Amino acid sequence: MLNRFKTGAAALALSAFSVACVAQTATLSIQLDKPLHGVSPSLYGLMTEEINYSYDGGLYAEMVRNRTFQDRPFGGHGPGGMNHWNIEHFGNSMASMVIDTDEGPSAAQQHSLAVTITKADSANQAGVRNEGYWGMAVRPNTTYTGSLYAKADSAGMGPLTVSLVSNNSGKTLATTTVQGLATEWKQLAFTLKTGEVETSAENHLVVTVGHAGKMWLSIVSLFPPTYKNRVNGNRPDLMEMMAAMHPTFLRLPGGNYLEGDQIDERFDWKNTLGPLVDRPTHRSPWDYQSSDGLGLLEFLEWSEDLKIDTVLAVYAGYSLKGDYIAPGPALNPFVDDALDEIEFATGATSTKWGAVRAKLGHPAPFPVKYVEIGNEDWFDRSGSYEGRYTQFYKAIKAKYPQLQLIATMPVKKIKPDVVDDHYYRRADEFFAMVNHYDSVDRNGPKIFVGEWATREGSPTTNMGAALGDAAWMTSMERNSDLIVMASYAPLFVNVNPGGMQWESDLIGYDAISSYGSPSYYAQAMFAEYLGTEVPASSVAGGGDRFFYSVTKDAAKGKVYLKLVNASSTPQAVDIGLNGANVGGSAEVVSLTGTNLAETNTLVAPKRVVPVRTTLSGVGAKFSHTVPAYSVQVLEIEAK
Ligand code: AHR
Repeated sequence: MLNRFKTGAAALALSAFSVACVAQTATLSIQLDKPLHGVSPSLYGLMTEEINYSYDGGLYAEMVRNRTFQDRPFGGHGPGGMNHWNIEHFGNSMASMVIDTDEGPSAAQQHSLAVTITKADSANQAGVRNEGYWGMAVRPNTTYTGSLYAKADSAGMGPLTVSLVSNNSGKTLATTTVQGLATEWKQLAFTLKTGEVETSAENHLVVTVGHAGKMWLSIVSLFPPTYKNRVNGNRPDLMEMMAAMHPTFLRLPGGNYLEGDQIDERFDWKNTLGPLVDRPTHRSPWDYQSSDGLGLLEFLEWSEDLKIDTVLAVYAGYSLKGDYIAPGPALNPFVDDALDEIEFATGATSTKWGAVRAKLGHPAPFPVKYVEIGNEDWFDRSGSYEGRYTQFYKAIKAKYPQLQLIATMPVKKIKPDVVDDHYYRRADEFFAMVNHYDSVDRNGPKIFVGEWATREGSPTTNMGAALGDAAWMTSMERNSDLIVMASYAPLFVNVNPGGMQWESDLIGYDAISSYGSPSYYAQAMFAEYLGTEVPASSVAGGGDRFFYSVTKDAAKGKVYLKLVNASSTPQAVDIGLNGANVGGSAEVVSLTGTNLAETNTLVAPKRVVPVRTTLSGVGAKFSHTVPAYSVQVLEIEAK
């Protein structure tokens, strides 16, 4: 990821433009033998929710869109529909389809797609096709694992033919015959294997039969190989991109997604467990149906696969459109539900919910240190959060005294362990607030910056945003005695038309490829090079858009100096490293843009990426120039 070198011509052009207006030299003085405080070991993490097709059509590797026929028209409520499904017919075969609200394979899935074939034979089959999430990624020599629930009105209607087909050529890329279609609901499993086909996302899935009759379909599912080969798992490319960010935790499951627009549209974790056929799915506040394929256990396994902790957010009785449960007896069932959820994640297998987790295949408890109570409860104009937080806090602390409990806004009756602050800002706003936390009371709650981002660039952020982010991260590192955790949001966006509900996201993708924004690389750099303590330092001179942070790892004998020059002119810095023996060279990682709007895209994913170089002449005193529009990390040996 860190291998791109700018051409000499581009560097020359930049310096020619900059000659006329070089900023005043900054003097940076660092006292390596005077630690001010430790760095929070959990400073950088991930925040996630179902937004921008982050899971369905994103991380969750399911290829079939609207597999349960529950998707509603945009903004719609009421019964689901046939979105993304169409009739497929060959030769003179004939078929029609309709949603049947009286037929379904389970209590959770009480409706299905009824397909009536009025004319078909084995050479002229008819049925349905699914378009996928803006296509279906098909790769050569790959095995796809599928299943569907089906029922027919007569025993002789099958077998089914299931195929992956190219949109452009109509060519069948993989096909199989599925036996077992019967007059009772049955789950029928199949695999599709490609040969030497072209890698492409412009494909669809077809399910047909060669006999007339009526059949019902539900939970039509197809998965490619997943990260760590998890059944019902995640896309490898996106998991690898997250791993490369060196995160320490995952805040889940949201965000607004936790709350839902209405109380009955919250993330109701008990409805997201077990076989897919037992998950009813639900409408998310970002206006599309969530398949809940990525349920609570899958979230926890996502943390496990990245070897990170979980910051578990529990629903706290307030939903986005303003409905809330008043503190008191009416809130008790929600408090109990949160206690059950914590037990599901962390309890021994001898507990009720720990045993459920074990039955679902995961006997080992997950590492959870922090539980967040609600999300952005400052939106609750009723003022009920004070009482709601207190009620949850007392019940959770009584049972789990070791947990750190996060409040989503300041409360007065009780001192929260941590308060979650959110900042969505322009770069200049972040520059102006880099000293915000310097003067915050150290005797109050710790801070979790649970959502933050420089919102410049769409769908993913640009270099200007990366500079705002980096400036803000220098301030979070300097204040990491107070700020225990921070997570950027939103993490993901499907860049296809209609895929985005929130502009300025970190990682973009379509069905087949993905890329990191400049902000992504700035984050990865800051998290990878993070020491364990903040030494005393001071700066004089330098432009208004020059920012730095310094951390030291005594055990590794390293100092990590982060320099951010958000100006269009280079920034010279005289650096003094006192109180240690400093090695003669430094490894430098640089993220540099030609201008603020420069960015990465699906077609140019590596335009702005970190570049590694070596800087010689590094000693107790040395001079260095930070290029215009640059984020740099200097990794210096210091014993
Ligand atoms: O990150 C997008 C949204 O911003 C989150 O869902 C919400 O918590 C915040 O308002």
